[in-house]
Amino acid sequence: MTDLNELSQKLASIRQDIETELKEIADSKGIYEYRKTIMDGKAGKIGSLMREMGKIPKDLKAEYGKRVNEIKNWAQDVFDRADEKLKEQEMERRYASEKIDITLPAKKFKKGNLHPNTQVRMQLADIFGSMGFQIYEGTEIETDYYNFTALNTPQDHPARDMQDTFYLGPEFLLRTQTSAGQVHVMENQKPPIKIISPGKVFRSDDDATHSPMFSQMEGLVVDKGITLCDLKGMLDVFVKKIFGEDTKTRLRPSYFPFTEPSVEVDVSCFQCHGKGCRLCKGTGWIEVLGAGVVNKKVLEGCGIDSDIYSGIAFGIGIERIAMLKYGINNIKLLFESDLRVLSQIDD
Ligand code: PHE
Repeated sequence: MTDLNELSQKLASIRQDIETELKEIADSKGIYEYRKTIMDGKAGKIGSLMREMGKIPKDLKAEYGKRVNEIKNWAQDVFDRADEKLKEQEMERRYASEKIDITLPAKKFKKGNLHPNTQVRMQLADIFGSMGFQIYEGTEIETDYYNFTALNTPQDHPARDMQDTFYLGPEFLLRTQTSAGQVHVMENQKPPIKIISPGKVFRSDDDATHSPMFSQMEGLVVDKGITLCDLKGMLDVFVKKIFGEDTKTRLRPSYFPFTEPSVEVDVSCFQCHGKGCRLCKGTGWIEVLGAGVVNKKVLEGCGIDSDIYSGIAFGIGIERIAMLKYGINNIKLLFESDLRVLSQIDD
């Protein structure tokens, strides 16, 4: 290059090329790549111009340098602005694509619920807790003594046939009733005693309303002057809270070796309100639990003076209450863990 005219032309054409080519570029990454082809000190269209300085006649060097610098600055500026504009557009596109509509309804996570047995157990614990009962947790493996003998049911007593027992050996068994806990409590605690004892019990029994494993909640009160009236009063409160305020209680004579007198407690049918329906088998009453006044022999066996103290006890079948309350006709539904069934029951 020997004259400035030629240089001017060359620079003008570079400028023109840049202006047209730049329009074609759609993103900032493209600008970055393109900028290298122009500005690179070795291969770039503008960047390499300075290297040619050596070939320029001395008197033109200053002007050459000035013009090359000018176009360099111009190009720098053009690229910066194009880059900025594209980056802005890219951000806008990103904002648009990531836009969140905060007015959309939130995704709902399905909330689990407690097992009906647990719900009933907690309701019972609440009700009796509010009457001052404390919770005693017995053990599922018991000795024959605590499950039967101490409860006035010695070997060969016919009442043993009421409960088909799983024996673990001559001495140990799976408790057939939470009543086994009564004896432990009375052996270890002086009256006044007021406990409930929820837990699993086991009997070799299996049909639509019986399961080899089920749950009971025992209640035991021992103090001076406790009578059957106290039992009736407490159970009245309990059935009203569980089955509804207009539910009535009825005591029928029954037999348990460890209570005397013994009663079977019925509630007025909360479905038909006494008219008679399938649930109450047309009688207007539903049996809900067994109870009675603690047999003096049991108190004495635990070292409690039965001339001073008396007691009442009751045993509630938790599954039975759940089945009645929630209209479940087969006890197996409570043990199969089918969420289609269990999730319907959320009190
Ligand atoms: N343990 C008895 C049963 O399982 C119920 C019961 C408890 C009866 C307490 C009277 C007193 O059938």
